Amino acid sequence: MLNGVLDLARKTTVSLIKCDVGSLAGHHVVPQPLFNLAEKSLQEAAKKGLINNFIVFNAGDDLELLMVHEKGEQNHDIHKLAWDTFKAAANRAAELKLYGAGQDILKNAFSGNVRGMGPGVAEMEIEERRSDPVVVFAADKTSAGSFNYPLFRIFADPMNTAGLVIDPAMLCGFKFEVIDTLENKSIVLKCPEEIYELLALIGTVGRYAISRIWRASDDMICAASSVSKLSLIAGKYVGKDDPVMITRAQHGLPAVGEILAPFMHSYFVQGWMRGSHWGPLMPVGLCDSKCTAFDGPPRIVALGFQVADGKISCGDDGEPMIADMFDDPAFSIARSEAMENAVMLRRMGEFEPARLSSEEMEYTTIQTVLEKLGKRFKPLEK
Ligand code: 13P
Ligand code: 13P
Ligand code: MG
Ligand code: MG
Repeated sequence: MLNGVLDLARKTTVSLIKCDVGSLAGHHVVPQPLFNLAEKSLQEAAKKGLINNFIVFNAGDDLELLMVHEKGEQNHDIHKLAWDTFKAAANRAAELKLYGAGQDILKNAFSGNVRGMGPGVAEMEIEERRSDPVVVFAADKTSAGSFNYPLFRIFADPMNTAGLVIDPAMLCGFKFEVIDTLENKSIVLKCPEEIYELLALIGTVGRYAISRIWRASDDMICAASSVSKLSLIAGKYVGKDDPVMITRAQHGLPAVGEILAPFMHSYFVQGWMRGSHWGPLMPVGLCDSKCTAFDGPPRIVALGFQVADGKISCGDDGEPMIADMFDDPAFSIARSEAMENAVMLRRMGEFEPARLSSEEMEYTTIQTVLEKLGKRFKPLEK
């Protein structure tokens, strides 16, 4: 019995840390040698007991390290492991003359935490429940703030999440931490009471990003997403943020199916070609996690698993069991919608709203073009 109680109180951390270290054929896909290197690096860390187990996967050209351990969030050793793995992969990418080798490695020396250094991080320390289903998401060719819409649908919209109406454990609502990425400030808003105020902020996806969500009745953490803006760190365009997020499901939280339901339709996100265009987000299985047309359309993958005894739960072979959630015909309408909208937007070329607003273009090379023209402007005669 005591063991059972201790087991229930076990604290486990899920860390999803990503970085574009270089890719094959432009910004298309992470090639095999970089997977091999990352696998080896995390295998060694698992042997030493630093992490309990892991999955290496990709969202287009972003290398994704999903690690489960007991060291807590923002742990120096875990972040150093990710940083060293990305640095080694970036060196390998440079040797192979892959495109954008070391693209998201924006600082030279590791400073104890990869936050603010280029890689994106979503982390969540949880007290393991009897059964703890988790879904992680990773997107390519898009930005922090792109998860505002689905996170709102999942945790605040009763038209998406039946549990908000039907499950008494969810009637209390959820608390949302929103980051103002321009001014580096945060605010917590509670839904349903402050649903309109929440929307007033998070609809501005280029500035505000939901970073964490808790169940209001007991402050149980149930979602975490990366909110770093590469252009704000680097002061110029260096590729899009390509965010990641972790959500917990079931038993008093949204069901896995409710977490996936917002992706039955495509929606528009900032990113796509040169990080400068609105594009329709396309949910895909890992086999299609690669960007092609106009460097897109922006794509998102979702992996489901169970956290058990400090690990991603394993099959008979000892390997972590992973469900490739969007590898399913249930999302084929969203994929068709994405392509219909993609061709419509591309027909508009460089005209807004296909291209991002001038505010959002501030960090791109278009500024140099505009500066050149600036000198040629003459005041109008009165
Ligand atoms: P380059 O100048 O590196 O081609 O930048 C454009 C880019 O990366 C968009 O794909
Ligand atoms: P990534 O941010 O995925 O590297 O894409 C950069 C880009 O400019 C695509 O056109
Ligand atoms: Mg890239
Ligand atoms: Mg990318």
